Amino acid sequence: MLQAVAHLSDRHFRSIAELIEGEVGIKLPPGKQLMLEGRLQKRIRALNYPGPNEYVEALIEGGSFDSELVHLIDCVTTNKTDFFREPSHFAFMKDTAVPTLLAARQRGPAGLKIWSAACSTGMEAYSAAMVLDDMVKNGSRFQFRILGTDISAGVLRLAKAGIYPREVTAPVPETLAKRYFLHSKDKSRGEMRVVPELRRLTHFMRMNLMDKAYPVDRDVDIIFCRNVLIYFEKHNQRKVVDRLCEHLRPGGYLMVGHSESMVHAGSSRLKQIQPTVFRV
Ligand SMILES: C[S@@+](CC[C@H](N)C(=O)[O-])C[C@H]1O[C@@H](n2cnc3c(N)ncnc32)[C@H](O)[C@@H]1O
Repeated sequence: MLQAVAHLSDRHFRSIAELIEGEVGIKLPPGKQLMLEGRLQKRIRALNYPGPNEYVEALIEGGSFDSELVHLIDCVTTNKTDFFREPSHFAFMKDTAVPTLLAARQRGPAGLKIWSAACSTGMEAYSAAMVLDDMVKNGSRFQFRILGTDISAGVLRLAKAGIYPREVTAPVPETLAKRYFLHSKDKSRGEMRVVPELRRLTHFMRMNLMDKAYPVDRDVDIIFCRNVLIYFEKHNQRKVVDRLCEHLRPGGYLMVGHSESMVHAGSSRLKQIQPTVFRV
């Protein structure tokens, strides 16, 4: 017999939506009610709640909020990413940003710091690492380190492992794929792993962009913060962009997603270089 699916009441939806926006920044307008119900279902079943309203009540009134937050975040975040997503940013980094940053350094070989803020499963961070390491192998004189941060513990586990199904590596240019991926020992699994040489240069850490302060260096050269601000309310977008700017060295670059070209609106510190590329 088919079981009737219990729906979130408007009241419970409003409570959880407020909670999520306050903690994570992600806005959930009424149109997202069904989507949220769908995403919570697995978790609600795993915890044996009769339905979504009871889950929300336990979360808000029953005091399970702190321990449940990490799971709730995994349910509500959209983690879609790709290797070399929005490839023009990687071309800009190679052809313009890195040469400009290096030219501005006076003494000795430079150390570049790159931050993939909201890195999801790490493909953005590893794409940047491949481009930079390739530049070094082709004679550019610099060292680099990459930091990837995200609020979702689930995606960070995948990022740290650096193991991906072969089909998702398709956008990686062939010469880079050959150099920077290893095939899994068990060929039938069809997985590829980022080589240790790149994994050593790429670190991942859990961090909430809504936090008032970020435990990150303040002389980062390039920040990728792409396809996350689109989920935030304008006032939160502005605060996040301002905080990110505090972590850029003078002349550093901020790249946002192609659907987020408006985020500079509130920050007087940013100069727009291209529709989605900014500089302090
Ligand atoms: C759509 S993915 C974008 C991944 C990558 N930047 C890209 O463009 O391919 C958005 C990521 O933002 C993360 N995220 C959402 N809210 C966040 C927050 N408040 N702090 C940090 N990361 C957040 C999600 O967990 C998710 O992995």
